[in-house]
Amino acid sequence: MKKERPAMSHFSGYYKKTRQERINLLQQARHLAPDSFNILSQDQNLPETIAGKMTENHLGTFALPFSLLPEILIDGQEYSVPMVTEEPSVVAAASFGAKIISKSGGFTTTIHNRLMIGQVALYDVPDMEEATKAILQQKRSILDKANAAHPSIVKRGGGARQLSVESKEEFLILYLEVDVQEAMGANILNNMLEAIKDDLEALTQGQALMGILSNYATQSLVTACCRIRISSLATNSALAQKTAKKLVLASKLAQLDPYRAATHNKGIFNGIDAVVIATGNDWRAIEAGAHAYASRDGQYRGLSIWEIEGDDLVGQITLPLPIASVGGSIGLNPKVQTAFDILDQPKARQLASIVASVGLCQNFAALRALVTSGIQQGHMKLHAKSLAMLAGATETEIDKVAQLLRQEKHSNLETAQAILKKIRQE
Ligand code: HMG
Repeated sequence: MKKERPAMSHFSGYYKKTRQERINLLQQARHLAPDSFNILSQDQNLPETIAGKMTENHLGTFALPFSLLPEILIDGQEYSVPMVTEEPSVVAAASFGAKIISKSGGFTTTIHNRLMIGQVALYDVPDMEEATKAILQQKRSILDKANAAHPSIVKRGGGARQLSVESKEEFLILYLEVDVQEAMGANILNNMLEAIKDDLEALTQGQALMGILSNYATQSLVTACCRIRISSLATNSALAQKTAKKLVLASKLAQLDPYRAATHNKGIFNGIDAVVIATGNDWRAIEAGAHAYASRDGQYRGLSIWEIEGDDLVGQITLPLPIASVGGSIGLNPKVQTAFDILDQPKARQLASIVASVGLCQNFAALRALVTSGIQQGHMKLHAKSLAMLAGATETEIDKVAQLLRQEKHSNLETAQAILKKIRQE
């Protein structure tokens, strides 16, 4: 049974609380399972018994901060979203963006499809046309053979759905589309593709070079949109209008200039990666697919678009998000299980909606900062603590060094070191 979600603004000033107070508040607001509460309180991570079996030549584990975007409204439902990132100001920016956007109704999302694509590339095919015909004539039996290679996904209601063939120079490529249900599908696809290789060689008289899933998941597209009342962008209405116009220009710049597009999209992935990692998903796959999608017309472009419609600033992002709610390390990592509990056990489609929305939210916050005060003001304010630590400040010195550093014109490591030296002499 779904848990009852609390009213908004439960979390105002969340970041000013202690770590344990934050965990307690999260527990109360999201009714976390006792296990999740303990995992968070004791900051439990992967035990050696699991970590040692996940990769090869294991030496230990590698920690990153596990943080919380306290509240975001997506498709009418309020979520707290776990984020794993090493970068200061990302979580603050997402929290800030989500707050503003939630006031205007939050995000709405569309899952266009959820099929994974895999390919078998053949070469040395004597007659491409004949080979294509032969494959298409045997379409049903190829799909059946693929399904027989992974019967458990068929039992769960998924399986191979469609195939198509294209020739590209010396290659004849078969594309297989598979409904992978809640999984990301790499193993399912790879099993299927390897199982049909011999038949394809026999049908085409060619050689199979490889059979592998494609991370360009164009059949797993997700769109997130938001509509922000321009008046909510600043207390002064002229400034709010100006901010909206500049945000639209920033979005246009990312469509035209690949140098800007890469940074624009990096800002989006500040949010997307943080949620994808927290939920045990394959962030390399998500990044690879999304960057390929950003270049789909031959030029690398920003993944989001911002426009003014009447009194609203409207943002939209579409990208491939082959997100899973089962498989991989999801069932193994206790922190990932906790992340799913915090999110109220979303299914893969719902998780994809959350990820896309956080990406758009992160983009909004970064662009708003860029076109108003500039990025350094907010980012460096929060980066100050990292600089203080890098300068060698101890637990009791960090806040003092960070506070003094924020007042300096040049907020860098050198200044942090000089401040630390000075306070130690006082
Ligand atoms: P602010 O106006 O000083 O924030 O902005 P505020 O003090 O008025 O607080 C407003 C809300 O922000 C708070 O609400 C929190 O939700 C959140 P409240 O809880 O008070 O009701 N908030 C925080 N949450 C957690 N910890 C904090 C914190 N402070 C505020 N310490 C803010 C400050 C950083 C939010 C703003 O300056 C901002 O959004 N900056 C953008 C920062 C950013 O994008 N950082 C990513 C790194 S830069 C980068 O990699 C990407 C980039 O290159 C992408 C691109 O170019 O497109 C920029």
